[in-house]
Amino acid sequence: MDLLVTTIAERPDLAPLLDAFPGAWPEFMYHDPVSALYYDCCLVQFPEYCLIAVDRDGERPVAKALSAPFAWAADPASDLPPGGYDEVILRASADRLAGRTPTLVSPIEIAVQPQLRRLGLAALMLDALRRNTAHLGYTSLVAPVRPYLRHEHLDVPFADYVAWTVAGGVPYDPWLRVHARAGAHVVGVAACSMTIPGTLAQWRAWTDLPFDESGPVPVPHALAPVHCDVAADQAVYVEPNVWVHHQL
Ligand SMILES: CC(C)(COP(=O)(O)OP(=O)(O)OC[C@H]1O[C@@H](n2cnc3c(N)ncnc32)[C@H](O)[C@@H]1OP(=O)(O)O)[C@@H](O)C(=O)NCCC(=O)NCCS
Repeated sequence: MDLLVTTIAERPDLAPLLDAFPGAWPEFMYHDPVSALYYDCCLVQFPEYCLIAVDRDGERPVAKALSAPFAWAADPASDLPPGGYDEVILRASADRLAGRTPTLVSPIEIAVQPQLRRLGLAALMLDALRRNTAHLGYTSLVAPVRPYLRHEHLDVPFADYVAWTVAGGVPYDPWLRVHARAGAHVVGVAACSMTIPGTLAQWRAWTDLPFDESGPVPVPHALAPVHCDVAADQAVYVEPNVWVHHQL
């Protein structure tokens, strides 16, 4: 496949293609209330941090890697925001409003078209994001990594799962493995990286599950059970991620 990987700053005409990734995420993931703060204005505020890969022939969208800069005073090799993904978005937005100079860049979303997965495109996009971040003058890329095969192993503690390795000592989880091979080091667990609250009707619509009993509800592709409270008519998903640090 002959690919063009570019930023939206360089090719603003490709911006509409960022929305052409149907089925990239499980439905409930589109309902993190904090995400809207990024997606509603990233193309205006952060176009040089947003990458898209298109097939040169048809200019079809193949993959995307969206990121955001934020200010962080501590050493990113050992200390990163405990609130993970949501905290990056809140900080990046607040920094922009307050005029603070960012010091780190974090991916917000790296996604590959579902029919083009397992071809090495995720590694290619991560590499492009690393190079773009360095080109913008940063020395670190940090990522609240979503170890997506965790949903198949909810019976083991999260920290144990992310420490699993396979031959060669690389992580068992495929997405953590891509980051490790690119040179990232694990900094720690972001226990509350993304919080998605909803009424039971909303969770039923997002998952096609009954949500009719209080307690933990396993949801396909969720990295932790969703906490359901029938009497209160609410359910909440708190996703753990793993902070990694790429020294550029
Ligand atoms: C995560 C994602 C970006 C990976 O993209 P991809 O192009 O399929 O990844 P690659 O082809 O580069 O594969 C990377 C590794 O993961 C493995 N892998 C990919 N999907 C896998 C799966 N479903 N099960 C097991 N292993 C898998 C590959 O075999 C490869 O491992 P290897 O190099 O050791 O053989 C893609 O699945 C995606 O867009 N998912 C939805 C969005 C998401 O979760 N993004 C990550 C958080 S921002």
